Parts: sequence; C-alpha cells; structure tokens
Amino acid sequence: MAKHTVITMPGDGIGNQVLPESLRVLKAAGFDAEYIHAVIGWESWINEGNALPQRTIDLLSKHKLGLFGAITSKPNKAAQAELKPELQGKGLVYYSPIVTMRQKFNLDICMRPCIGFTGNPLNYIRKRVDDDFDEPQIDTTVFRQNTEGMYAGIEWTNPPENVRAALASHPKFKAFASVPGADLAVSVRIITRAASRRIVTAAFEYAKERGFKGVTICEKPNVVRETSGMMEETAKEVAKSYPGIALWSTNIDAQLMWLNKNPEDYNVIVASNLFGDILSDAFAGLVGGLGFAASGNIGDEVAVFEPTHGSAPKYAELDPPIVNPIAMILSAAMMLDHVGEGAKADRIRKAIADVVKEGKVRTYDMMRLSGGPKAISQGAASTVQMTDAILERLR
Ligand code: NAI
Ligand code: MG
Repeated sequence: MAKHTVITMPGDGIGNQVLPESLRVLKAAGFDAEYIHAVIGWESWINEGNALPQRTIDLLSKHKLGLFGAITSKPNKAAQAELKPELQGKGLVYYSPIVTMRQKFNLDICMRPCIGFTGNPLNYIRKRVDDDFDEPQIDTTVFRQNTEGMYAGIEWTNPPENVRAALASHPKFKAFASVPGADLAVSVRIITRAASRRIVTAAFEYAKERGFKGVTICEKPNVVRETSGMMEETAKEVAKSYPGIALWSTNIDAQLMWLNKNPEDYNVIVASNLFGDILSDAFAGLVGGLGFAASGNIGDEVAVFEPTHGSAPKYAELDPPIVNPIAMILSAAMMLDHVGEGAKADRIRKAIADVVKEGKVRTYDMMRLSGGPKAISQGAASTVQMTDAILERLR
C-alpha cells in the first residue's frame, strides 16, 4: 500500500494541464502515493448544480490531503444560464468551491511563498542612485488568514431591518441613517482571537524553522481599530513565546509602498484575509507572477495545495499547452513539506532553480510573450517541455 493518499482535483481549464505535470514530478522525486481523482468546479456546477459535490468532500474528509488545479467561476446570472436544462429554475446558487472548501474544512492558514529564483527574467529589479540596477533576493512568505475577515461572506445589499437596527445602535452610523436600503451595501469584517492566534503562530513557527529574525504583522490598527487591533494585539501575545524573533508592524498601505523600496527585508508577513490576499499577489509579482505563485490551505486536519492562478480559459484549449507548470509543481512541493517529505520537496525546488538559472527552457510568460498559439513558434517551451526539463534535473 502506498504511504500517502492524495485527492487530485484538477478542476477547470489549465488546471487540467498543470496538475498532471505536478504528478510526474512527484513520482520522479520518489513520493510514494496513491492518487484519487475528484471532481470540482464549473463542469460539476453545470452537470450537477454543485461545484463541490459531496463525494469530493467525503474523499477529502477521509484522506485529508488534496492537490487542486484551478476552477472557473462566473457571476450568478451567467452561472444560472449555463446549468443544464433539467437543473434550471430549481433555485440552485453557485458558490465558489474553493471558498466553500476553505470554510468547510476550516483551512484557516493560507501560506503563500514568494521566493525568487536566480536567473528568472521576471524578477524584480531596482534602480540604484548610480543608475545601475540591483536585483534583491526576495524570500517572502505571506501567511494569510483564510476563513474570516472581509471574505467571511457576511454581507448584504439592502440589509434586513434587524441588521439595520443593529447598525443604527452605533453612533457612527448616523452618517448613513438616511441612505435608502437599496443604495446601502454592508460587508462585515469579523476577526476572532482564536483564528488570529493560529495564523500568527503559523507565521512564527515558520520564521523559527527558517531562522528568520522577525515576523511582520501587516494590518491597519490605527484606523480599523477593532479588527486590525485584535490581530495586532494577538500577534504581540504570540510573539512573547518566541523570544528570539522580533515582531514588526506595518500598515497595509505603507507596506505596498515599501514593496518597491526594500522587499528583501520582509521574510515572513502575516495578515488578515483581504490584506493577505493583496500582499501575496503583490509579492508574487516581484518573483515572476502567476506562473510561480504557489499556495497551501492548511487546517488542523485537512490541507489542500494549489497554484494561486485561475483556470486561464483563453489558454485552456491550446495544443500543446503553453502555461507555466512551475506554480503547480511548487504547490506539490509544499504538500511534500506538509507531510514530512521535505527532502524530496527541496530536491524539486532545486531542480526548478537549476532549470530557471540555466535559462534554456522558458515558458511564454518567462519570455514576456503575449501567449496564445504563436508562443511555441516564437521559441517558448510548452508546459510539458518545462516539466521535462525539471524531470531531467531530478534524475
Ligand atoms: P487566471 O489566473 O486564470 O489567468 C490570468 C492570466 O494570467 C492568464 O490569462 C495568463 O495570462 C496568466 N496565467 C495564469 N496562469 C498562468 C500560468 N500557469 N502560466 C503562465 N501564465 C499564466 O485569472 P483570470 O483570467 O482572472 O480568471 C480566469 C478564471 O479563473 C475565472 O473564472 C476566475 O474566476 C478563475 N480563478 C480561479 C482561481 C482559482 O481556482 N484559485 C483563482 C483566480 C481566478
Ligand atoms: Mg488573489
């Protein structure tokens, strides 16, 4: 019997192109696993009226470990229109299966490493005063709270009377009291101490493991006093248990400005859901963007690893596929770290680093081409060729 069982959920579009490539790499690295395919995404919405079917949930509950590609999602009207005829008019509502999965399994820790590979032509460079350029070595991992905050989904347009009454009990609501319901939208930002503690602790544990000097909490407690305030207060509490590691504090707006100034100074950043989402995309942009951005959604029991990118429908039908499989392969390596196979994960990252450094095999994004069917004739490697180059280094 294989040592591990992994639920594979390629999903839609390019998810189906990159996930199989990551399995080839896992195999070559010697990962002993059995893979069970599970459905998720647009196809299952259209055919079953549910983008995350119960049987997929059951498989994840049982085996606790998932690799996920990407899904397509569309606004509710378009979603309704594409349902197969016998499912239409039944009041089915489309929910993002990833958000549902994160909430259902309480995958509250989102870990997003943004680590530059030497020789990647997409790496961030910075002009110096002598007009020369620096290429800072960026090694930042964002810990994003994954289940609450602005993405908890507690929101209304035209809030019901009791909600409006509750809001009216706050003195600051006076300014909005005369706005008609239909013109009033409210999204609630809920932060809990327990979830804050878990995400901050995950960030400190990682800093300890990697030997970093500090953790940065990036919020906005001077303005969003209650929720960002609780995150920051909790971070100060947690930091007491890590005497060798400093806690630094930045505001989200200033942090994004500093992104261009000294990104190499931030190794571990922890933030609530929305701010963490913004930060991780911003840092990913410095190290190659979507073709390199991996992530883990980690709960107490279940963990699911996925590239940050979506299903890129405009490239999904290309033959041969042209998208960069590295984000997916790095996500698979994170899965190895998670199950205690860190040495195999390191070998995979080293193989990727070698291929990027050598610079002979580059997908279209690494060549700053516009993508599309011409990319290959313009000299870009295909998805499979990139994986082949990585496999070559693993042998
Ligand atoms: P996207 O991430 O799918 O693609 C945006 C662009 O980034 C692509 O057109 C392509 O130019 C580039 N790109 C993405 N992945 C790449 C890769 N591996 N290699 C090279 N280039 C790559 O985002 P978009 O177009 O906004 O959304 C498409 C669909 O994906 C939508 O239905 C959206 O809802 C969904 N989506 C799903 C996500 C997920 O499954 N986690 C995340 C983001 C979007
Ligand atoms: Mg995002």
